[in-house]
Amino acid sequence: GRHGDLAGRRVIVTAGGTQEPIDPVRYVGNRSSGKMGYNLAVEARDRGAHVILVSGPVALPPPFGVEMHLVETAMQMRDAVSDFITDADALIMSAAVADFRPTRVAEQKIKKLRTEATGQHREDEFSIDLVANPDILGELALALKGGHAGEQHTGISIPQLKRRLIRVGFAAETEHLVEHAQAKLQRKQLDLLVANDVSRTDSGFGTDTNKVLIFHADGAMEDLPVMPKTGVAAAIWDRVVPLLG
Ligand code: PMT
Repeated sequence: GRHGDLAGRRVIVTAGGTQEPIDPVRYVGNRSSGKMGYNLAVEARDRGAHVILVSGPVALPPPFGVEMHLVETAMQMRDAVSDFITDADALIMSAAVADFRPTRVAEQKIKKLRTEATGQHREDEFSIDLVANPDILGELALALKGGHAGEQHTGISIPQLKRRLIRVGFAAETEHLVEHAQAKLQRKQLDLLVANDVSRTDSGFGTDTNKVLIFHADGAMEDLPVMPKTGVAAAIWDRVVPLLG
């Protein structure tokens, strides 16, 4: 049975989307509701794990019995993951992390009409420069490969991992699902990659159900039926448990 099969384990789950500020009132964000990640956290808790839930801003209540860490930006999510990674048994990144953030954050609310006083001209167009955010799972793969030296190349610091860390990523794709998912699993050196087809109406962002493919490090692929996100969460932990040392 599944009951208690995560007892004594420490797991980190990331959930929701990150929000990257443009000015004091606006941000670049995405449609993640946090449902997939919160279900993963609750399932792990019910199986006996100590769960650290690193969550972007979502409308869901914090689950009982789960250690919550609220973040807004990708940089903050990276720092939180980095803080807890050393004694974790598993990391599941279901968060939709923004790949880019505004290069500059305006100190004051950006006005629609630009005036001569600011030295700028009135325009009908407005653009925001973006800069790449760190790839949290990618940095982690690099840091693990480089051991102690990893810290020099990435923002993730791993003094000494207590146990083998099982890493699970998600992939939100609108096309070429299998190819993109396999490439991500390779690039981020993951144990499992869960790919959801976000172009379906019953799957992906915001829905209560999900239709996923699970890719394993050895090349195996499983095509799961549409299920409630609670069921998808259970299926994922079912596959993580045998990988734990
Ligand atoms: O929250 P819900 O409404 O329930 O929706 C769930 C979901 C669709 C958001 C979720 O199931 C999902 O697919 N999450 C990952 C979405 C995503 O950003 O995928 P990606 O292909 O951009 O990223 C691939 C993996 O790398 C992910 O595990 C992501 O967390 C991670 N990543 C991405 C960017 C980045 N800078 N650092 C990362 O670690």
